[in-house]
Amino acid sequence: MTARPMALMATEDVSRQFGSVCAVDQISIELNADESVGLIGPNGAGKTTLLSLLSGALKPSSGRITMDGNDVTALPVHARVAAGIAKAAQIPQTFDRLTVRENVLLPAYFGAGLSQPDAGVWIDEVLEMTGLIDRADKVPASLGLLDRKRLELAKAVASKPRVLLLDEIAAGLTEPEIALMKEVVRRLQPGRAIVWVEHIPFALQDICARLVVMDKGARLLDGPFDEVWASDALQSTYMGM
Ligand SMILES: Nc1ncnc2c1ncn2[C@@H]1O[C@H](COP(=O)(O)OP(=O)(O)O)[C@@H](O)[C@H]1O
Ligand SMILES: [Mg+2]
Repeated sequence: MTARPMALMATEDVSRQFGSVCAVDQISIELNADESVGLIGPNGAGKTTLLSLLSGALKPSSGRITMDGNDVTALPVHARVAAGIAKAAQIPQTFDRLTVRENVLLPAYFGAGLSQPDAGVWIDEVLEMTGLIDRADKVPASLGLLDRKRLELAKAVASKPRVLLLDEIAAGLTEPEIALMKEVVRRLQPGRAIVWVEHIPFALQDICARLVVMDKGARLLDGPFDEVWASDALQSTYMGM
């Protein structure tokens, strides 16, 4: 028997309680390098909590999390970023007195550990990939929702993650805007694993080869996108979404 290749990132029986609520319930999941996974499920299923456990924003109540086979469970966010894990949050978090470029420079310095001139060159590349290069000198408050969502994504990418976690970056966007966001994510895929939480499955289609469905803190379904999407179990869960 040949050994399976080591997962890039994995959780082992990871749970997270909030009082009596078990937001994430004993999830064991493996993420391979270069793999894009869509994560869907009803409101309150535990999707955001799972991403926060992966990013280090929350600590699990039990279980462990590994990156490259190393235990990262105890590592806080900045150390996870250094290990190659970054998250774009559902609600964009920006420094509002800084320009778009300066907002993206911070994770290039402190996340990717770059210094000038490398940081400047890399940031121009990130702004180009995320479609923000023409807005580089604006402040976040002057941006529309699509650009604020792009900025949140650009900040995550600027730290050069190998695992990119996306929490509803298409939420609130129109269909043409979602199509633009998908183009951006497609540009970011090479050399990266992506976990993309979204309410609108259209956003994940043709981007994520694998689809995971969570419900009540548990992993309900996991497999090739089209198979999971067509399954009866998904259709019945989805009726309640
Ligand atoms: N910080 C928190 N404090 C208390 N309960 C929380 C907290 N975050 C999430 N929850 C609860 O955990 C469950 C899962 O929430 P969440 O991970 O946000 O779900 P999803 O992102 O799938 O909508 C919900 O019941 C939610 O109310
Ligand atoms: Mg959520």
